[in-house]
Amino acid sequence: MKQVLLTGDRPSGMLHLGHYVGSLQNRVQLQGDYESYIFVADVQALAACWDNPKLLRESVVEVVKDYLAVGIDPDVATIFLQSQVPEIAELTIYYMNLVTLARLERNPTVKTELEQKGMSDSVPVGFLCHPINQAADITAFSAEVIPVGEDQLPLLEQCNEIVRRFNRIYNVNLLKECRPLLGAMSRLPGIDGKAKASKSLGNAIYLADTPELLKEKVMAMYTDPQHIKVSNPGHVEGNIVFTYLDVFHSDKEEVNGLKEQYRKGGLGDVTLKKLLLEDLDALLQPIRERRLKISTDHVFDVLKTGTARARCKAQATLESVREAIGVRYFEG
Ligand code: TRP
Repeated sequence: MKQVLLTGDRPSGMLHLGHYVGSLQNRVQLQGDYESYIFVADVQALAACWDNPKLLRESVVEVVKDYLAVGIDPDVATIFLQSQVPEIAELTIYYMNLVTLARLERNPTVKTELEQKGMSDSVPVGFLCHPINQAADITAFSAEVIPVGEDQLPLLEQCNEIVRRFNRIYNVNLLKECRPLLGAMSRLPGIDGKAKASKSLGNAIYLADTPELLKEKVMAMYTDPQHIKVSNPGHVEGNIVFTYLDVFHSDKEEVNGLKEQYRKGGLGDVTLKKLLLEDLDALLQPIRERRLKISTDHVFDVLKTGTARARCKAQATLESVREAIGVRYFEG
């Protein structure tokens, strides 16, 4: 039997290159090797944007278009919507008793996001509980392999704590521990040189960006502010064009040669940016073209089929969990 791979994204706009190298690429490559579940975490997103239903709905469609455009095959992987699998919500409620408030407040992923969003004093309970909800996502499918970026590691750790606690308290071997699968680059920096490419920082290249926008972003990329003349020696470390070339340029030898030349002087930023632009365009052009052909109706068809398949699996887990906890009183 194949192991289960599961991962999801909160819908808050479109997916960018950071998502691609952090996780999407792995999902596409591995979809057939595992029983794969890829989902849109709209309930989790609600914990931060409950007051903007329009944005949420639009983002769900965009994210699924991105999934299909990068090559996730809905006949191979199950693509579904978190909100349409109520079993996950019920599991979340049961797991709430296995986690202390102090532990949630200490979760580094939660802490960082609270700071970023300036929510420290007004955090909704739902937001604080999203690690529990995420543990429900994972365990509902007995998922063992979770392709994610580095920022998600504390959430997987918290999930495994819940799993161990549950199995110990109820003296069962029911829930499975999971392990992260990090991507080629689990934290792609933004084009401005900031530590992480993200929507909120406005420094990301989106999979759906037009060729013109892509060019604009690459040409505006942060390099070495002290590298004024082409003949000047330049810095490679912290130079985002090189960081991206390391990830996206397949000929590593060539990148090493370019680094050497750049350090010595005589290699211009524009030459490097043109090379990177070619690489990114080659990657994104087919994705962009496929994306244009995907209709919103098709997106909802895929989600409907996938959600039905996902529910069957989650229902089976929920039954066993109810049984273990002692809240299964009769058949059906
Ligand atoms: N927390 C993830 C994000 O920020 C989304 C997510 C929700 C997820 N549930 C998950 C990822 C389960 C992996 C496994 O985008």
